[in-house]
Amino acid sequence: MRFKILVIDDEPILRESLDVALKTLGHNVIIAGTGEEGLELFSKESPDLVLLDHWLPGINGDEVLQKVKERDPEIPVIIMTAQGSIELAVNSMKMGAFDFMVKPFDLDQIESLVKKGLERVHLKKEVEWLRSQYQERFRSGGIIGVSQKMKEVLGLAEKVAQSLDTTLLIEGETGTGKELLAEYIHFLSPRSSFPFIPINCGAIPKDLFESELFGYEKGAFTGALEKGKMGKVEAADKGTLFLDEVGELPPSAQVKVLRVLEEKEYFKVGGVEKKKADVRIIAATNKDLESEVKKGNFRDDLYFRLNVVKLYIPPVRERKEDILPLFRFFIDRFNEQFKKRFSQISKEAEEDILSYPWPGNIRELRNTVERIVLLEKGDTILRKHLSFLVEKEGQVQERAEFKPHLPSGGIVLDEVEKQYILEALKVKKGNKLQAAKMLGISRSALLYRMGKYGIKNLG
Ligand SMILES: Nc1ncnc2c1ncn2[C@@H]1O[C@H](COP(=O)(O)OP(=O)(O)OP(=O)(O)O)[C@@H](O)[C@H]1O
Ligand SMILES: [Mg+2]
Repeated sequence: MRFKILVIDDEPILRESLDVALKTLGHNVIIAGTGEEGLELFSKESPDLVLLDHWLPGINGDEVLQKVKERDPEIPVIIMTAQGSIELAVNSMKMGAFDFMVKPFDLDQIESLVKKGLERVHLKKEVEWLRSQYQERFRSGGIIGVSQKMKEVLGLAEKVAQSLDTTLLIEGETGTGKELLAEYIHFLSPRSSFPFIPINCGAIPKDLFESELFGYEKGAFTGALEKGKMGKVEAADKGTLFLDEVGELPPSAQVKVLRVLEEKEYFKVGGVEKKKADVRIIAATNKDLESEVKKGNFRDDLYFRLNVVKLYIPPVRERKEDILPLFRFFIDRFNEQFKKRFSQISKEAEEDILSYPWPGNIRELRNTVERIVLLEKGDTILRKHLSFLVEKEGQVQERAEFKPHLPSGGIVLDEVEKQYILEALKVKKGNKLQAAKMLGISRSALLYRMGKYGIKNLG
């Protein structure tokens, strides 16, 4: 991380050499020759650390220190003082200076002191940065949910977030927002200023799972890193451990996870010291875990431990009210990203958007909007911009070759057509656009024929 350091000193030579030294360490440096100038720059530039000469013409070092501390009580200020005035420096320490250096000093001394001062700033900046990231994401409406079903899920999530330790299980098809919901819960929880660490259970080879989760001591096995390695449980200390695709955990790993949940303690691989596991566990799966338990693929004791509270995110096709708000949300986001100005969706395009089944759920919806906003021009999303969705749908089910069967007694052609229309409407649960697509005709052609045969709306 690059930091901004303010140097206030009236000796030009010392200023110059500090400037060079700090820049070599990779920092931004701002320089002032008097206390007044220093305070002005302090307000304008908000530096991360101040190096302050004790003796200054005009207002002196202690006055500058006091004003700086009034504006930012947390900022580390390092006092530079001449031999023989150490008592004064001690007094500055009482006023809140971080440390002091006696002139003349060497570069190593500056380096180590500045580094120490910045460590605190670093940590604070990182936490602030994380916070701003979260706030950006969840800034009112980061999670879209206007449907009743989604409101219920979010309401429950907000409630369970308040607890420190309750284990949660999030179920839902691919792309429904399980990871986003887990992050949201973490953000609202008392653990929010500590890490959120995801671990993809399906992607870790079963022999490596234990060392991924718990880490290992040095020399734990051949090929182990010299220094040993930190595990995810330790990385997530005081925060949240997100076990994604928990249904993919191999049986040996299921036992390990169960033990952490039961005992809240663990050993590093090759370690003898018991370590405390201070994490909340949120697990997610796109499988129906209960039926995996019945099939014998998932331990029932682990299932019960994980399933203290279950949050089920329904697929997009079961909460259609969310589709257009999500679409608009992503339009705004990608407008900003690609400097476009889409602001409307045509009526026809809306119909297509609403009738498409979105098998990839919100991820697919997001990718669709991204593609349109990136590639198309203008301010309105049109039906033709969505034609690739219809093609995709067509690809899923190849049209079967049609072999007519004509009974010797003959048939009524109109009746054949009527029966096929009824069948298509039934399969598509009354959705006319999709039924029309299945029959290779337009929606209006279908409406015409439905009228002709007296077919009423289904569903
Ligand atoms: N309610 C929502 N509002 C806004 N964006 C959402 C919402 N739900 C999901 N998203 C976005 O959709 C994408 C997919 O979400 P996420 O990765 O959380 O899904 P998932 O359920 O974990 O998927 P998978 O099972 O494939 O891992 C992400 O870009 C996420 O930010
Ligand atoms: Mg996921």
